[in-house]
Amino acid sequence: MQNIYLYGAGGHAKVIIDILKSMNISVTSVYDDNLSISEVLGTPVVHDKVSSPLIISIGNNAIRKKVEEKLQNINYGKALATSAIISDTALIENGTVVMQGVVIQSSVKIGRHAIINTGATVDHDCIIHDFVHIAPGCNLCGNVEVGEGTFIGAGTVIIPGVKVGKWCVVGAGSVIRKNIPDNVMAVGNPCKIYKTINNE
Ligand SMILES: CC(C)(COP(=O)(O)OP(=O)(O)OC[C@H]1O[C@@H](n2cnc3c(N)ncnc32)[C@H](O)[C@@H]1OP(=O)(O)O)[C@@H](O)C(=O)NCCC(=O)NCCS
Repeated sequence: MQNIYLYGAGGHAKVIIDILKSMNISVTSVYDDNLSISEVLGTPVVHDKVSSPLIISIGNNAIRKKVEEKLQNINYGKALATSAIISDTALIENGTVVMQGVVIQSSVKIGRHAIINTGATVDHDCIIHDFVHIAPGCNLCGNVEVGEGTFIGAGTVIIPGVKVGKWCVVGAGSVIRKNIPDNVMAVGNPCKIYKTINNE
């Protein structure tokens, strides 16, 4: 039986453990630096050694990136829920997780360490860069691009061909009709820039 290790023992890890189980992949242990956590969903939590193949099971995009930069000589696995419908022509890089009920259509490209969360849809030819989180119930129409590290809040709709920049935060329930630049928080319907985010 194939095995994957996780890094991070919070709620996000629970969902990933469920998905890996459904893929018939076992999770031997979860690494976490919080010494007070000893198990998650019955899986032992270790505090010393990080093993591979690994998935960084931390929901925060910036922290996921920091962890990846810190770790060396690690290879990454992916978790693709068996209930997700994923086109054979979609490319999904390692480290990424695709939750239950997601639909990913043809020619979609998804980078490393991304999260496509429960019930989201990603239509044809979308490009999702590394460390993105598409929260539950989002609908991305065809040819949408989401830049590195951007968080798209739950239930957001993005109309065809729109480009969202890097390291943005988009509020839940937004409707994005126009391109969004890098490093902003944007909210609402129609989605408007609320403020610039300092990502230094
Ligand atoms: C966008 C978000 C991150 C902002 O959180 P915050 O930094 O704490 O910001 P605040 O709550 O102070 O809101 C700032 C402003 O944006 C507005 N705003 C916040 N979220 C909004 C949303 N989803 N839609 C419309 N307006 C929103 C607030 O009304 C406020 O406006 P005001 O200054 O005119 O009163 C948060 O509201 C949100 O939508 N998070 C998404 C959560 C989610 O989808 N999680 C999925 C986890 S799997």
